[in-house]
This record gives sequence, C-alpha cells and structure tokens, in this order.
Amino acid sequence: MSNAGCKTAILISGSGTNLQSFIDRSADGGMALDLSLVFSNRPEAYGLTRAKNAAIDTACIEHEDFESREQFDRAVAAKLDEWKPELLVLAGFMRILSPWFVGHYEGRILNIHPALLPAYTGLNTHERVLEAGDEFHGSTVHFVTEELDGGPRILQGRIKVAPTTDPQELMARVQEVEHEIYPIAADWFAQGRLSCRDGDVLLDNERLAGPIVQDFA
Ligand code: GAR
Repeated sequence: MSNAGCKTAILISGSGTNLQSFIDRSADGGMALDLSLVFSNRPEAYGLTRAKNAAIDTACIEHEDFESREQFDRAVAAKLDEWKPELLVLAGFMRILSPWFVGHYEGRILNIHPALLPAYTGLNTHERVLEAGDEFHGSTVHFVTEELDGGPRILQGRIKVAPTTDPQELMARVQEVEHEIYPIAADWFAQGRLSCRDGDVLLDNERLAGPIVQDFA
C-alpha cells in the first residue's frame, strides 16, 4: 500500500484495532498518510496479521533480547529508518520510550492514550475512571515527549460514562472513539497542518490553547 503520501510507521504491541482504523480509512482513499510499515515488539501481536492482510510491510524486534531500553530503542530506530518514516504513530505500543528515541524523532511521534489527559496517565484507565465515579471519559491524541503520557495534547474524544458500565464495556466504547479521532489527527500531520513547536501544538498555523474536544454519544 503506497500513495506517495507522508511515510508513516505504526508501532503496536497487541490487537491493533487502532491500526485497523488507519488501514480502513486509507483503503477508503483521501488520506495523506502512506502506511509504510507496521512495527511490533511482540511477534504474536495480531496487528501484524492485520498489516500483512493489508499488504503493509511489517517488522518485529523483541525487547527481551536487549539489555537496556536505549539499546532496544536504537535497534528499533535503525529498523524503522530503513523505511525513512516521516511520522511515527504509536497505537497500543506498550513500551516507555528512551529520551534518545524521542529526540531522534522529535516532533514526529503521535500517541493515543485511553483517558482525558492529563487525567489518568499510565495503565488501567477504565477501571480507575469507574472507581472514581467520573462523569466523563475518553481518549487523547498527543505528541510524544520524554514525559510519559505528558506531551502536548491535540485532540480528545469524550463520552459520558453510564453508571452501570463495566471496564470492558467502557474500553470498547473508548476504542470506538479512538478509531474516529486518531486517523483524523494523524492525517492533519500528514497534510502538513499539524506540528509541535516549543511545546505548543500548531494547527493551521494557530496555536491551540488546549486540545480540541469532540463529544461522542
Ligand atoms: C488503545 O486503547 C490505546 O489507547 C491503548 O492501548 C489500546 C490498544 O488497542 N494505549 C495505551 O494504553 C498507551 N498508554 P489496539 O491494539 O486495539 O489498537
């Protein structure tokens, strides 16, 4: 799959439903993204099968084979750079990135996190939202910096939490939202409309005072 757009590597560790949303959106046409490569740190990740089914190149390096985080990250970057990616999309890539890696791709890494950041960084966000009895939950697309889940926020998808929702059900609803918002934000970058400068997010040459929030039913 290649449309001479913005060369993009998608990094995954698991199921890859977000990856699938990019594949589907690309197949529909009209995306400025060129899905050049899908990379996984886990060979069993189902997302690799999704990529192969869509005729996208894949690569896998297992982190267990390296002594340090940075050694692994340098090996990953050497592999990714064979495809000369202009954008890295983290889609359920469950690795903390070294400062070296973040610097190597400065301003060119996007992540999606299943919470309305800055609330609920880290893991088990759906359980924590339910425990806290929050009225709203959702997901955030942000630029990646050295601070875990702390980079400048671009776009949030927000839902109202129903009182009876269990974590699995909530996760499924949040993922539906992710599948809508992530390709949109990544495509803004691919179109040259979105950038990160000095910690600020610029969209169409305007500095965002905060993330754009889109409500979902
Ligand atoms: C997504 O919900 C994503 O937000 C989350 O992992 C899931 C991956 O699902 N990412 C993180 O928690 C990163 N902190 P997928 O493999 O089906 O796309």
